[in-house]
Amino acid sequence: MNVHTYEKVWLGAAMVLIVFFIASVTYGAIGAGVAMVDDSEETIDPDTLGEDDRFGDPRVEQVGDDEYEVYAVARTFVFQPDPIEVPEDSTVTFYITSGDVIHSFSVVGTNANVMVIPGEVATMTVEVDEPGEYGIVCNEYCGPGHHDMEGLLVVQPEDEFELEDDE
Ligand code: CUA
Repeated sequence: MNVHTYEKVWLGAAMVLIVFFIASVTYGAIGAGVAMVDDSEETIDPDTLGEDDRFGDPRVEQVGDDEYEVYAVARTFVFQPDPIEVPEDSTVTFYITSGDVIHSFSVVGTNANVMVIPGEVATMTVEVDEPGEYGIVCNEYCGPGHHDMEGLLVVQPEDEFELEDDE
């Protein structure tokens, strides 16, 4: 068979390109000193949230002088607890998970906004200062009640704040 010289050149060039592409992908994956993102997200079984120490009883907990943790659950079409009450001038870390589908936890008028994915625990720390009420909405379409899915974050004056006793 007589292969034209140009044909040979282009065949060769194509081969070289293919090898180059495979080599570059391989290098990108293992050779460049860039590790794949480690999936260290905390995971949780959305079907057994009721038995979970933190999410079985959605609540606010005090963990330091002016530090609070909120264990919140988003599910169609509510946020728990509702309202979420924290005192002014405090640092609040939210741990949020979903009991069913993907939602978001978005505090209206602020940049506090996190996607809530079933099986994962979303974490977000915010500083709250002035007392006031903030709506919480869901920004991920989650079903027919999506647009009605809302909660409330209440920042209370220091002297009015009292942790709910859930004994
Ligand atoms: Cu929950 Cu949209």
